[in-house]
Amino acid sequence: MSKRDLQDQIVFITGAARGIGRGIAERLLADGASVVISDLDEEAAKETADELKTEGAKVMAVQADVSSEASVQAAIAKVHQEMGSLSVLINNAGLFASTPALSEDLSGWQKSLDVMLTGSLLCARATAPDMKANGWGRIVNISSVMAFIAYGEDVGYCTAKAGLLGLTRSLAVEFGKHNINVNAICPGHIRTPMLDATAKHVEQRDGTSPEQFFEELVGTIPKGRLGEVKDIAAMVSFLCSEDADHVTGQAMHVNGGSYLA
Ligand SMILES: NC(=O)c1ccc[n+]([C@@H]2O[C@H](COP(=O)([O-])OP(=O)(O)OC[C@H]3O[C@@H](n4cnc5c(N)ncnc54)[C@H](O)[C@@H]3O)[C@@H](O)[C@H]2O)c1
Repeated sequence: MSKRDLQDQIVFITGAARGIGRGIAERLLADGASVVISDLDEEAAKETADELKTEGAKVMAVQADVSSEASVQAAIAKVHQEMGSLSVLINNAGLFASTPALSEDLSGWQKSLDVMLTGSLLCARATAPDMKANGWGRIVNISSVMAFIAYGEDVGYCTAKAGLLGLTRSLAVEFGKHNINVNAICPGHIRTPMLDATAKHVEQRDGTSPEQFFEELVGTIPKGRLGEVKDIAAMVSFLCSEDADHVTGQAMHVNGGSYLA
């Protein structure tokens, strides 16, 4: 890993207690940034922040439900008190809910949109004023390859992730004049608690064992392996750096060749 110089940046990462968000936190701390571990799960966020605290590392934990404007605003107020003005937002919080299109229950659909789409806008609205005042900012939205493909019974997830690309483009145009770059990353399949839960769901639905599920998945990836959180974190690190100064409004694919955009 070649480190980047993000010494001056204060970064707010949503859903950072585990999985991809935690991997992004580790990477940006190694790059020298100050990092806020925010998550719905307060205890898990605190534990992660404690584990990532090494000598000299500036890291804090804060509870936030990204789907609630009041919760996001309260979290940002705490960050202002403890750390200062934010320059980077990583919209990473997410969930996978099975959402058959004809199901009577629309709660999974609504939650998917509330957390991954509306939540991303709420966090951008809460942090962009800092970036505007600083004359520099970066917003990275963690979308998915599933903004482009679908497996069925996933209207909530696919729609939220595709919508996030529209949000990315719109914010990139609106915030460009303030020197705030807004990009999306579309990860392929990354081994995290979310993918493990998907494997279990598939087993319950049609009897495919998790071993078979992962074997078949790897078979669709030209690079011959699942993605790792560090693969996504490296792209985040690039997008937050000065090297990415002219990159905005884009969807960056990190998927080992499983989907060719
Ligand atoms: N794992 C994959 O294969 C994969 C692929 C493409 C995209 N993604 C996306 O990457 C992001 C991270 O996924 P992951 O695999 O690390 O998932 P994960 O389930 O391991 O972690 C998600 C985190 O988000 C938090 N969260 C959920 N709802 C929240 C809310 N309302 N407010 C704040 N935090 C909340 C959870 O507590 C959890 O810590 C998600 O947006 C996901 O959709 C994952």
